[in-house]
Amino acid sequence: MALLLLVLVGVVVGVVVASSLLLRWNEVRYGNGRRKEGRLPPGTMGWPLFGETTEFLKQGPSFMKQRRLRYGRLFRTHILGCPTVVCMDPELNRRMLLQGEAGGLVPGYPQSMLDILGRNNIAAVHGPLHRVMRGAMLGLVRPAMLRTSLLPKIDAFMRDHLSGWAGSVVDVQAKTKEMALLSALRQIAGITAGPLSDALKTELCTLVLGTISLPINLPGTSYYQGFQARKKLVSMLEQMIAERRCSGEVHDDMLDALLRSGNDGTREKLTDEQIIDLLIALIYSGYETMSTTSMMAVKYLSDHPQALEELRREHLDIRKGKSPEEAISYEDFKSMAFTRAVIFETLRLATVVNGLLRKTTKDVEMNGYVIPKGWRIYVYTREINYDPFMYPDPMTFNPWRWLEKNMESHPHFMLFGGGGRMCPGKEVGTAEIATFLHYFVTRYRWEEEGKNTILKFPRVEAPNGLHIRVHDY
Ligand code: HEM
Repeated sequence: MALLLLVLVGVVVGVVVASSLLLRWNEVRYGNGRRKEGRLPPGTMGWPLFGETTEFLKQGPSFMKQRRLRYGRLFRTHILGCPTVVCMDPELNRRMLLQGEAGGLVPGYPQSMLDILGRNNIAAVHGPLHRVMRGAMLGLVRPAMLRTSLLPKIDAFMRDHLSGWAGSVVDVQAKTKEMALLSALRQIAGITAGPLSDALKTELCTLVLGTISLPINLPGTSYYQGFQARKKLVSMLEQMIAERRCSGEVHDDMLDALLRSGNDGTREKLTDEQIIDLLIALIYSGYETMSTTSMMAVKYLSDHPQALEELRREHLDIRKGKSPEEAISYEDFKSMAFTRAVIFETLRLATVVNGLLRKTTKDVEMNGYVIPKGWRIYVYTREINYDPFMYPDPMTFNPWRWLEKNMESHPHFMLFGGGGRMCPGKEVGTAEIATFLHYFVTRYRWEEEGKNTILKFPRVEAPNGLHIRVHDY
């Protein structure tokens, strides 16, 4: 009996000693101890390899809040496989985004995303390749393109997509996800609903899941399937390119513009591989952001009848001077001040984007601390969205706040990022959500059906869908 007790005590002591040694391991490896270059921000590094990832994913925003209380707005941790400095200071965050590559900061997105989106993925490349890819992307979505080519396509798509909803229960989450994908396919290559769009949709959905999984390349894992989906997508796009070249026909779409760009010597000519990676990145970047914002706008409008009334008035006024078949124009879009306010307020309150990831290519100074080369910096912008000084009564959905002051030009407006990587799809994305809302509120009224749960972290989603019962307006 005494021996058993002794063994038990030995095991407990052993576990405690081993745990504290393991917990010290990351501290010793990444702590201030042996550093001569400068001090690191305060914080804890957790377990070897896993760091504090489990706590971060489980607790989400409260993980950040607790550490901010303990260590301040700049602290170190070890999450998602990397030593990371989290920055919640709006001014410093802005500086980090503006500092960019020249200041030692390149994109720091997870390995799965980098592998599956391809080596020319605009959101991951840097240096001269980023300039080329970004130039090509900006050419596709510039205001002149939005006015003459994209908006008419978006309008035609939304009319179609938003028809026949009356008298049924609709899952807004499913509909807005479909909308983001199909609308992008129409803009890219004039693809309308049918077998090709169904095949692309299946592969794109698998690809998206692969990018947010652990990079374990074994059959059955999401990463493996995402990679396979990428291969199939690439081959479909290669076939489309070959058909275009063979037919020699002119098309009014993004693929045509990319195939022709560079022919006149004004811009560098992209390789087929770069064109394909650009198109995949374009669909990927808009997919979740656009669908989630549209879904959450419907949710907030359901809960705020006064905002819905004002939004509907804006859109009915636009329709007044038009025949039912007439599309909304660029000028109409530019006149939608309240709609724009609803979209930004939705992005803010739902926090569709929690923050941006960067990796240091050299030691980087932050408020007197020195962040070593190879670390990640999490430019955590979520907190700015709830800053009571910037947004009084921050937890209230109040689109009117965007009309009072020119909040969009505020230096801490980071809903679309900032600096040299600021979202190139900001205007196209806003126009698309605005057009969705236009047809939605002028055609229908609705009420929520049943109890719909919405999760806000790590991504905004309705695990069982957001169901509404729809009626003709
Ligand atoms: C409501 C909609 C959207 C939101 C909230 C949003 C947000 C953002 C943010 C925060 C970034 C910065 C990422 C970083 O700095 O690491 C970004 C980058 C990007 N976005 Fe968007 N986005 C939206 C729609 C779109 C759309 C529709 C497109 C495609 C036309 C798009 C294409 C991109 C691309 C390609 C980048 C990477 C730019 C670069 O690294 O140079 N986005 N977006």
